[in-house]
Amino acid sequence: MKNISRRGFIEKGTVATVGIGSLPSFSNAMNEQKKTVKVGVIGTGGRGTSHISNLLTIEGVEIVALCDLTQSKAENGADLCQSAGRNRPTIYCKDENTWKELLEKEKLDCVIIATYWDSHAAIAIGAMTKGIYPGIEVPAALTVQDIWQLVETSEKTGIPCMMLENWSFRQDNLAALNMKRLGMFGEIVHCHCAHSHDCIDHWFFDNKTGEKKWPAEYLLNYNRDQYPTHSVGPIISWMDINRGDIFTEIFSTATASKGINAYMKRKFGNDHPNANLKYKQGDIVTSVLKTKMGKTLVINYDMQLPRPYSNRWLLQGTLGVYDEEKASTYLEDKSPEYNQWEPWKPYEAKYNHKWWSADFSAQSHGGTDYVMLSQFIDAVKAKGPTPIDVYDSAVMSAIVELSGISIQKNAPVPFPDFTKGKWKTNKPYFGID
Ligand SMILES: NC(=O)c1ccc[n+]([C@@H]2O[C@H](COP(=O)([O-])OP(=O)(O)OC[C@H]3O[C@@H](n4cnc5c(N)ncnc54)[C@H](O)[C@@H]3O)[C@@H](O)[C@H]2O)c1
Repeated sequence: MKNISRRGFIEKGTVATVGIGSLPSFSNAMNEQKKTVKVGVIGTGGRGTSHISNLLTIEGVEIVALCDLTQSKAENGADLCQSAGRNRPTIYCKDENTWKELLEKEKLDCVIIATYWDSHAAIAIGAMTKGIYPGIEVPAALTVQDIWQLVETSEKTGIPCMMLENWSFRQDNLAALNMKRLGMFGEIVHCHCAHSHDCIDHWFFDNKTGEKKWPAEYLLNYNRDQYPTHSVGPIISWMDINRGDIFTEIFSTATASKGINAYMKRKFGNDHPNANLKYKQGDIVTSVLKTKMGKTLVINYDMQLPRPYSNRWLLQGTLGVYDEEKASTYLEDKSPEYNQWEPWKPYEAKYNHKWWSADFSAQSHGGTDYVMLSQFIDAVKAKGPTPIDVYDSAVMSAIVELSGISIQKNAPVPFPDFTKGKWKTNKPYFGID
């Protein structure tokens, strides 16, 4: 976010997001823009390393410190920095609490947190209390109690807290958001999304040995939507959640757990120790969320059956529908044939969001990670609000625990209002700058 003024305007080839949002309370528009920011990365595994690579391509970023449980992973991150012609960052690597020493000793402007899920909230709270912006990998926290602590710490310290939900920044999703804000879909009534991503053979388990990796423990011990934020990220802006509307309840249900055992037996044989374990996690979780204004959202967790990747985003209103999986849209009074799909791509180009003013496709995840991180870094430089705030981070993350409670009770569960009533007056914000 280059400047803090908000305007709806049309630039060459890009459409700025429509609508005027009020500044979130964290905004500090009077601060001088910083030219360089000092960044620390805690957790330099797969995702942390990818963040380091992207950060090295963003102007004005100085990676000064890295922390991991494994020395070689942190050293690898430091090698990347040196190979890019930068100073070698200081390495912090003793135990799972060494991040505290890093936050204490380094004068950071922001910290990227890409550790295991159970440490995200504590590190982010530690950062905010030291005046450091946290950019937290998904989910921001695992329990509603920890989420409230994130919200309260952010409010108390005035430090914005952003969950790094990259799919909110996808080019197609942002174009759909522009169209929604122009009223092209009419009043929004219903959305659907999924995280259909077979991760059993690489992220949850080692595909050579079948050994459990750290996320697999969650499949053994919980039955819930383990990973809702990628699918819900773009939807909360499409549905104006926390800004004019709010989720009121969630009702989740899960299938039996068949996929993990079937995969283990198929790949490693019936006698593999992980082939006969009893996994609590059902293969498909379906959650229905209701909003105060009468909208509904259906989310599917789907990460342990063999299938191609899909997010199946769908946005439906009184004037039309966008279907990501079909790469199609239908707009009443606009589409050439009555009730017939037309291709999405021309709309994506026409209503391109200005964050996608260049081709970033050489970067990770087709450029989406770069767009997200550069917006986060711009916010840190400006000491202004982050593009995803603590309330949106809270709503996305809360689905993890709440879906599990709902499955266990076989009943709807109330959804907390993390804004404490501010949703009634908050104006649309994401993507408007
Ligand atoms: N947004 C995306 O597209 C995306 C993709 C993959 C992973 N992720 C998220 O990124 C996070 C990390 O996942 P990953 O796949 O990189 O896992 P990983 O196992 O590859 O890396 C995690 C790293 O964190 C380190 N770590 C754990 N606890 C620590 C602590 N207390 N202090 C210092 N280091 C610690 C581990 O040693 C490990 O190297 C997770 O939250 C995951 O959900 C997001």
